Amino acid sequence: MAYRIAVLPGDGVGPEVTQEAVRLLRAVGNLCGYEFRFTEKPIGGAAVRQSGSPLPPETREAALDADAVLLGAVGSPEFDRARAHQRPEAGLLALRQALGGYANLRPVVWHEELAGSTPLRPEAARGANVLIVRELLGGLYFSEPRGHEPGVSAYNTLRYTAPEIERVARIAFDAARGRRGRVASVDKANVLETSRLWREVVTRVARDYPDVVLEHHYVDSFAMLLLTNPLRFDVVVTENMFGDILSDEAAVLAGSLGMLASATVGGRVGLFEPVHGSAPDIAGTGTANPLGAIATAALLLRHGLELENEAADLESAIDMVLAEGWRTADLVRGAPRGARRVSTSEMGTLVERALSDVMNMRQAYHAV
Ligand code: IPM
Ligand code: MN
Repeated sequence: MAYRIAVLPGDGVGPEVTQEAVRLLRAVGNLCGYEFRFTEKPIGGAAVRQSGSPLPPETREAALDADAVLLGAVGSPEFDRARAHQRPEAGLLALRQALGGYANLRPVVWHEELAGSTPLRPEAARGANVLIVRELLGGLYFSEPRGHEPGVSAYNTLRYTAPEIERVARIAFDAARGRRGRVASVDKANVLETSRLWREVVTRVARDYPDVVLEHHYVDSFAMLLLTNPLRFDVVVTENMFGDILSDEAAVLAGSLGMLASATVGGRVGLFEPVHGSAPDIAGTGTANPLGAIATAALLLRHGLELENEAADLESAIDMVLAEGWRTADLVRGAPRGARRVSTSEMGTLVERALSDVMNMRQAYHAV
């Protein structure tokens, strides 16, 4: 059986890091005897340049037709003045809507090897392991009406319905059951009506999960607690915009934004994208960290194709390469003595080598 993967590299560093993620998926295929069929299509600014649209119909169809979608990043300063529907980001938002996944899972894990790369005190953050569940299809990003009269006024709408909140809350509570059994729901219920509804609905859903402990937080104080007391948190569930902001903040726990991966579930086809953006300032320099994209490939194996062993092996391979001291530019600060700096593609090659070691070890272990 062949797995069909739509690959949408996008803009900036997107193509460079996606190439490494695809390299690792191919390696998984070769090592485990799976066939992956990759179909590459343009999205974002790259697509606007080619065809005038940030989500051309053929890209949308290839994505809807795939078993999973692997995306790099979108966004380019070249389009800063473009009209809203012609911006690269509009392509990504339209794709998210078309695929229908409403729960964006963003795991954030402390890597002991990267302790020196974070500004946090290791004793306060060591062992942090948080899963941010970001609502992805509602809120300010999608609610109508919205408008902009340049230089005069502009407005957006923040709207949520109970079913939209309930479905993402269930994903968070289900995830908590397989983890440490805690959900922190983040809102701004002291000011926003949408947040009061959010709190009502999440509280109601919690009654179906008596084994899971729920706490509510206001987003402002949560933003501080997340970094001062990260060990307190397990699963975090929040609306679209808060989730966007808090996940970049949480990246501090992982050592670099370049480490974070995401999986969007609940729709027709799963969408897998690193959390980082297109980083146009370093595009083409071979310095981007591909580990977020490679960890995204692991989430694709786990949540998109239900290949849990292969996903776990790929995550172990990432840890192994870090433990051996290999670092991309973003991870060099505070690295242990003897650590060595490598390029985007060198990092991908190292993970590939580590993956075959990890898989051989697992097979040898099962053979005895
Ligand atoms: C993310 C990104 C996107 C978002 C942008 C590129 C539209 O920041 O996935 O976090 O805001 O959702
Ligand atoms: Mn973001």
